[in-house]
Amino acid sequence: MTRASELADRSIIPKSPKIGIIGLGYVGLPLAVAFARHHTVIGYDIDETRIDELARGYDRTKEVSKTALQGGKLKLTSNADDLAEVDVFILAIPTPIDSAREPDLSILSRACQTVGEAIFAMPLERCPTVVIESTVYPGVTEDICGPEIERASRRKAGEGFFLGYSPERINPGDKEHSLSRVIKVVAGQCQQVADELARLYERGAGVEVFIARDIRTAEAAKAIENAQRDLNIAFINEIAMIFERGGLSVYDVLEAAQTKWNFLPFQPGLVGGHCIGVDPYYLTCYAKSVGHRPETILAGRRINDNMGTFIAQEINEALTDGNPTAGKPTRILVLGLTFKEDVPDIRNTKVIDVVRGLEAFGHSVDVHDPLADPEYARATYGVDLISLDDTGGRYDCVIGAVPHNAFRKMSPQQIFDLLTPGGLLADIKGIWRTWELPDGLRSWTL
Ligand SMILES: NC(=O)c1ccc[n+]([C@@H]2O[C@H](COP(=O)([O-])OP(=O)(O)OC[C@H]3O[C@@H](n4cnc5c(N)ncnc54)[C@H](O)[C@@H]3O)[C@@H](O)[C@H]2O)c1
Repeated sequence: MTRASELADRSIIPKSPKIGIIGLGYVGLPLAVAFARHHTVIGYDIDETRIDELARGYDRTKEVSKTALQGGKLKLTSNADDLAEVDVFILAIPTPIDSAREPDLSILSRACQTVGEAIFAMPLERCPTVVIESTVYPGVTEDICGPEIERASRRKAGEGFFLGYSPERINPGDKEHSLSRVIKVVAGQCQQVADELARLYERGAGVEVFIARDIRTAEAAKAIENAQRDLNIAFINEIAMIFERGGLSVYDVLEAAQTKWNFLPFQPGLVGGHCIGVDPYYLTCYAKSVGHRPETILAGRRINDNMGTFIAQEINEALTDGNPTAGKPTRILVLGLTFKEDVPDIRNTKVIDVVRGLEAFGHSVDVHDPLADPEYARATYGVDLISLDDTGGRYDCVIGAVPHNAFRKMSPQQIFDLLTPGGLLADIKGIWRTWELPDGLRSWTL
């Protein structure tokens, strides 16, 4: 008889469980704060600076306010000994890709080891549940995380601890689709775990829940969500390239096409960050492991990955009036460095491809972003962010790269004043396309 069926007539998760959130980043912190309204939560992160900042009420990801951080029953720690009494571990750990664009599960594996060691130190009658929230491909929770925890805890999954999976679907910077407003997919190693986890998320975190058939199905559902988005954007980016060559603005074309009821409203642009530009590679890795050579998914990735270079080429051509050899080095100002609007996150931003591409044409490029962390920008990309009060004169070209609210709020005159006579206003996201330009200024838009 398995432990699961032995336990069928009593709860696996106690009525008032102590919850351990492992990894307090974009995903883990909002979840920790949501659960801490009703439960005791141990928020654990190996980054001591992050723990110190959060303890002072400062969330550098700008997802959680000081009041929310200090309001609930959340204990912040970077000491793994504090995990000794946790009943439900929830892992929100990065799952990046390596330089060969293969899934890098080493960070998740190390976190599983920490959880396994905490379980090892628990009395045998305690039987915690371990939920993975990270984005992975089908099989990672049961075939990679489970065995890692088994090794460290010296217990068996389904007997000494239980596994669950609940993919995170939050959208950073999006206050409308916050944690409590998005249906949460939940799956468990057995039906009882799934049901009890569903109740925990519903009551504890206040979210609506969908119970998936099993853990692999839930992992697969997450893997396709972002891949689908990536592909849809790739299609729009490809038509943007086509129409750019044909002298049409993709935004004008989309405006007309979107009047049809079933036309999908995707926008062109730079696909960066650590989700949409990364998760499809988890799906393609899985595809190859089951003997299928993915084509469409990788084609979409190629298009989106090359978009920054394409945009740099087009802007360079517009700057040099279509004659690349006639150009002289110009001063360019790029507005926005983060991977998307209204977030401070610059990880895997594709704006850097535009900057590098234009520098390769010999232009001098300044970057301004009021949300990005200047130190992180310097350390990661060697970019010294500038302030708009300290531009050192006007620019031959201003590029709207990220449609932060702060840029949308700037008046036409504030933007025009940044340009030299004859300067080029380059609008990647179509935010200024309806503006009428004063005589002498030129515009380029995707
Ligand atoms: N950011 C998003 O919008 C988003 C949305 C949906 C899904 N996801 C997925 O959620 C997962 C987490 O992403 P994120 O954006 O929150 O990452 P993040 O980088 O913002 O946060 C991860 C945190 O984990 C910590 N960490 C790393 N190793 C650890 C360890 N061994 N023990 C404890 N803490 C550790 C890091 O210090 C960091 O604070 C990823 O799989 C990601 O793909 C992210």
